[in-house]
Amino acid sequence: MGGERSDPGVAAAIAELNRGNLVAFPTETVYGLGADAANAEAVAKIFALKGRPADHPLIVHLASVLALEEWAVDVPDAARRLAAEFWPGPLTLILRKASHVPAILTGGQDTVGIRCPSHPVAQSLLRGFARHGSGGVAAPSANRFGHVSPTTAQHVREEFGPGLLVLDGGACEVGLESTIVDLSRGVPVLLRPGAVTREQIGAVTGVAPRDRDAAAPRASGTLAAHYAPHTPLVLVDTDELAERVSTAEAEGKRVAVLSRKYALAPLAGFLQVAPADATGYGQHLYADLRILDAKGADLIVVERPPRGAEWEAIHDRLARAAAGTDECDET
Ligand code: TXA
Ligand code: MG
Repeated sequence: MGGERSDPGVAAAIAELNRGNLVAFPTETVYGLGADAANAEAVAKIFALKGRPADHPLIVHLASVLALEEWAVDVPDAARRLAAEFWPGPLTLILRKASHVPAILTGGQDTVGIRCPSHPVAQSLLRGFARHGSGGVAAPSANRFGHVSPTTAQHVREEFGPGLLVLDGGACEVGLESTIVDLSRGVPVLLRPGAVTREQIGAVTGVAPRDRDAAAPRASGTLAAHYAPHTPLVLVDTDELAERVSTAEAEGKRVAVLSRKYALAPLAGFLQVAPADATGYGQHLYADLRILDAKGADLIVVERPPRGAEWEAIHDRLARAAAGTDECDET
């Protein structure tokens, strides 16, 4: 184990968790809003602060796979193989829950989401909390329900203001929430695409994961409209981008654009240039959406990125960010 780090921020965060309070911490995907997963009252504070409906369960974060069976039962072989391959990392497994896991955490379901994050600050927090606490930190993304997930400590402060302890671990490396695979129902089901791709899951389990269907458990990240900026957002194909922007501007709208191209003149509004590769694009997407949202524009226009396995999670999040916007009524 990589030595005892006595980071004073981490020690204070562990003390807060043990007092039943919330702390925000970095992971390699997005920042989390954490509570002691064994303390139902502490977990309730997450739902209250986020404004999150009670039937949207939380993920339990653990330092390592060694603690898995303290929180989950009937762990199938496929889950063990996925954990061995991708933990610590951006993958969440849905498994049958151990009986002591508080019902409030799982939204009353008999399954629990579990993930071992790789970020060194998250690891330091979770290892410390395993020695001086329950070891499980329940954490959703540290944003208000439905809003864009935070990828920096500053984003978390913008969401919740002062008074919340935020461990600052810099900008998140992945930038999009973890891949979620449900292994509680026999066949692997992909509930949320992420940096670990469906091909990788299929290669490790030997079964191509199914897509979620109506019988799948509720997941807030699976609502049609989610991960959304406040400004209306539309997704537009590359060859229609210039025209869509000039039409909106001709209608007197102020437009903020996210595009992988520099050449978009003439543009009266604001242009945020996105990285051309999927890794960079995903890393910056939520920060870019926050920048665009802060421009006070009437409309955000996003150039649809290319297709391909490595872009699946990005398409998923952009579609949800756009889902709240009705093209006929962009007010
Ligand atoms: O990358 C991530 O997963 C981040 C970091 C902080 O770890 N967390 C995150 O949590 O995105 P949250 O709550 O924002 O999204 C977790 C998703 C939700 O859509 C939730 O409904 C789903 O996971 N989920 C959690 N437990 C579940 C369960 N037992 N069954 C089905 N879905 C579950
Ligand atoms: Mg979230």
